[in-house]
Amino acid sequence: MSVFPQKVRIVEVGARDGLQNEKAVTTADKVALINALAAAGLKDIEAGAFVSPKWVPQMADSADVISALNLPDVNLSALTPNLKGAQAAHAAGIKEFAIFTAASESFCQKNINCSIEQSIERFSDVMEFAKAHNIKVRGYVSCVLGCPYEDEIDPQAVLYVSQKLLALGCYEISLGDTIGVGTAKKVTELLTLLLQHIDKSQLAVHFHDTYGQALTNIYAALNLGIATVDAAVAGLGGCPYAKGASGNVATEDVVYLLQGLGIEHAIDLQRLSDAGWQITKALGKQPVSKVSIALQAK
Ligand code: HMG
Ligand code: MG
Repeated sequence: MSVFPQKVRIVEVGARDGLQNEKAVTTADKVALINALAAAGLKDIEAGAFVSPKWVPQMADSADVISALNLPDVNLSALTPNLKGAQAAHAAGIKEFAIFTAASESFCQKNINCSIEQSIERFSDVMEFAKAHNIKVRGYVSCVLGCPYEDEIDPQAVLYVSQKLLALGCYEISLGDTIGVGTAKKVTELLTLLLQHIDKSQLAVHFHDTYGQALTNIYAALNLGIATVDAAVAGLGGCPYAKGASGNVATEDVVYLLQGLGIEHAIDLQRLSDAGWQITKALGKQPVSKVSIALQAK
């Protein structure tokens, strides 16, 4: 039986997941993007990443971006892979941390240079710091539906890592289809397993659209009651450590899907689409969102 949520919370990751894998834009362009996203009604915006600038130079100005924002009603989050990142994010004014590991050992090594177990150990410092400063922490698990190095991923591995992150104190797990290989059947099977152990309020989906399945996969997740969806305006982005992975599902397309299903989202689609055109102009490209392109042609 379908249990569509009444309301969906969209976590906008374009300014981080999107821009981390595009050619660098200016700090002012990033600030303008985040302000435009907030003006469109987004309340959860991942604004940057406090990672090594040698690894991801596009995120090197995250502290400057966040310091330039004045959005008291928006939950601004950022990636914080270690204590150093957490301290810098806190100093910049970040209200929510995101830690990230994977269900695939090889991807974890390539992405954050340690094993899954080591990543969990490393996160205990971040969690302690977050607790002391009353900061919520979100946990990402990458490669939940496939890995660029290991191919198939056992759903039990996803369950294992998700439970570890929840036990550490994450309030939510975002399930990453990092390379966008999942299909609706796989999503349904994975979530059916996870939902036997984890409450649906603690799960979010984070689907990249490499094989054009993200929206269908989100529909499958909504159908099982998942009510938090990550998306990137204009379908920006990818992952530097997952060759060939395309951007996240476009936020505009998710909003249009939700509208059609009668699910509340509180986002102004036209303003969102305008935000996508604005940042893609700075990047010298067009949105990959079909909804955005259709709205522009009207
Ligand atoms: P490491 O090399 O193993 O660690 O990096 P280290 O502690 O030995 O540090 C090495 C250098 O990095 C040192 O500088 C540190 O100071 C510096 P050096 O002495 O060489 O000049 N450093 C830092 N600098 C700034 N901020 C920090 C920081 N930490 C160390 N926080 C580390 C470990 C995790 C830092 C590194 O591997 C890294 O930054 N990786 C980046 C990973 C990344 O950002 N990947 C993309 C995001 S994840 C993603 O997109 C997936 C997701 O969207 C979900 C999905 O789609 O599946 C979330
Ligand atoms: Mg991602």
